[in-house]
Amino acid sequence: MQQPLILAGARSEELAAGLKGRDFLALADYTPEELRYLIELAIELKRVQKFGEAYHPLKGKTLGMIFEKASTRTRVSFEVGMYQLGGQALFLSGNDLQIGRGEPISDTAQVLSRYLDGIMIRTFAHRTVIELARASTVPVINGLTDSEHPCQVMADYQTVLEHKGKLEGLKVAYIGDGNNMAHSLLMGAAKLGLHMSVATPEGYEPDAAIVKQTQAVASGTGSVIHVCRDPREAIEGADIVYTDVWASMGQEAEQAERERAFAGYQVNEDLTKHAKADYLFMHCLPAHRGEEVSEGVIDGKHSIVFDEAENRLHAQKAIMAALM
Ligand code: CP
Ligand code: NVA
Repeated sequence: MQQPLILAGARSEELAAGLKGRDFLALADYTPEELRYLIELAIELKRVQKFGEAYHPLKGKTLGMIFEKASTRTRVSFEVGMYQLGGQALFLSGNDLQIGRGEPISDTAQVLSRYLDGIMIRTFAHRTVIELARASTVPVINGLTDSEHPCQVMADYQTVLEHKGKLEGLKVAYIGDGNNMAHSLLMGAAKLGLHMSVATPEGYEPDAAIVKQTQAVASGTGSVIHVCRDPREAIEGADIVYTDVWASMGQEAEQAERERAFAGYQVNEDLTKHAKADYLFMHCLPAHRGEEVSEGVIDGKHSIVFDEAENRLHAQKAIMAALM
């Protein structure tokens, strides 16, 4: 098996040693330095891949991927990422596993830990991921819950760094639903020193406890976190404009009600006039053109949505190579 790729320097070796065997459930569990290390590792793995160099630190290892919700990017990028690192991935549909018939999460975790070297899970309640991690003896990676999407945000801030050459001091405006994406973007911004303004309609704010936790982190990194009602106020002078679907997976029945609530929160050409002239548009995808974003913006010259999607592969390879 190949030696793990460790970035140059004694501090990087210490960081790499501290990451082995950890879970990746939420960005709150990682220090700013660890997150920066993982982003730099992702950029290095991307370079290695583009140059066609073989790098197989996970040879002989298997990642189980439990999906209780649909996925295009997460499933394919984890599976391809494992393959590129020399290992293999198993797709495990929540409907076909015994958890679908009531087997406890903790039993499932203990059984899967006897076969697998890592578990990725996409599910509804965040506590399911916490329970799974608690009972697993192998690293557990959060592939999205109702309240967090940390792998997406690692790819997102990697993408911002690649485009802007820095993270600290940039302003992110998030317009729309205070959902899992908003939560993870907030914590990532606070940890990495970006400023972030979130504008949501009443009743759709990000979770107050997460905002408070984020603001506490921000006070130590010089980041300013602001939650408001007015998209114009949030987007003023933004370097990054981010939005996400108005109805997330599991909220399909609320679609019509949410379309009414979010009218006026579309990221379109009128609104983006108030961002910086060289702003970048970001969206985790899948997107609904004509709802949370206009076609002109998502398919326009400021949009970097497919770079974000590509970086899911590199960011998750870094996370898997570091943890597993
Ligand atoms: N952005 C994202 O997680 O996409 P999928 O739902 O397709 O995995
Ligand atoms: N907020 C969206 C993100 C999808 C990647 C959802 O949870 O459906």
